[in-house]
Amino acid sequence: MTELPAFYDDLAGCLAEAWRRLEEGAAHQSGFHAPALATIGRDGAPRLRTVVLRGVDRAARTLRIHCDARSDKAAEIAADPRVSLHAYDAAAKLQVRIEGRARLHGMDAAARAAWGASRPMSRVCYGTIPGPGTPLAEGGAYALPEDEAAVEAGFPEFRVVVLTAARLDFLYLARQGHRRALFTWDGEAETATWLAP
Ligand SMILES: Cc1cc2nc3c(=O)[nH]c(=O)nc-3n(C[C@H](O)[C@H](O)[C@H](O)COP(=O)(O)O)c2cc1C
Repeated sequence: MTELPAFYDDLAGCLAEAWRRLEEGAAHQSGFHAPALATIGRDGAPRLRTVVLRGVDRAARTLRIHCDARSDKAAEIAADPRVSLHAYDAAAKLQVRIEGRARLHGMDAAARAAWGASRPMSRVCYGTIPGPGTPLAEGGAYALPEDEAAVEAGFPEFRVVVLTAARLDFLYLARQGHRRALFTWDGEAETATWLAP
């Protein structure tokens, strides 16, 4: 039998492990590097896509993602900030689901700091013409910026999505018995409970 991790029967330890894995995902390629972000579509239906986790602040309970202002997800968040994020690391046998509200930052200090810290190859996408999701006559009928000035001209389209967690559902798979826990935050009020898996 595999040895059980220290957080196995420790509720606070499970929460710490969730944040540790999320932080690791933001810093490196790991199971938590590219989670799925769900938004509510304009018709009320759920919409899902892979995103890269760019930053995590466990004290503020926030997760940072980058996107284009012209994308569906940006419009959906602007219309309804309720979002959900799903990450699963098969090697760690850990699933984390976060629900909360997202805030979009564009052309402000948060956007400038994130833009400044992002790699040139990441900035290129925001200068794509036409914008993401535009129907094309051929697969390659779009243009990417060709010089630094054109890349920088993409900044107005750059958005930082800051998700503040209101609920975190933790699931650890183990042959000895799975462990599932739910953590919620509502202002100053915090709850933590084990759940049947
Ligand atoms: C590995 C991977 C990472 C991605 N990271 C991002 C990202 O960080 N931000 C983003 O807007 N789209 C990212 N995408 C693209 C989205 O999954 C999606 O296709 C695109 O943003 C359009 O989504 P939307 O129309 O729902 O806005 C990524 C896709 C993959 C496969």
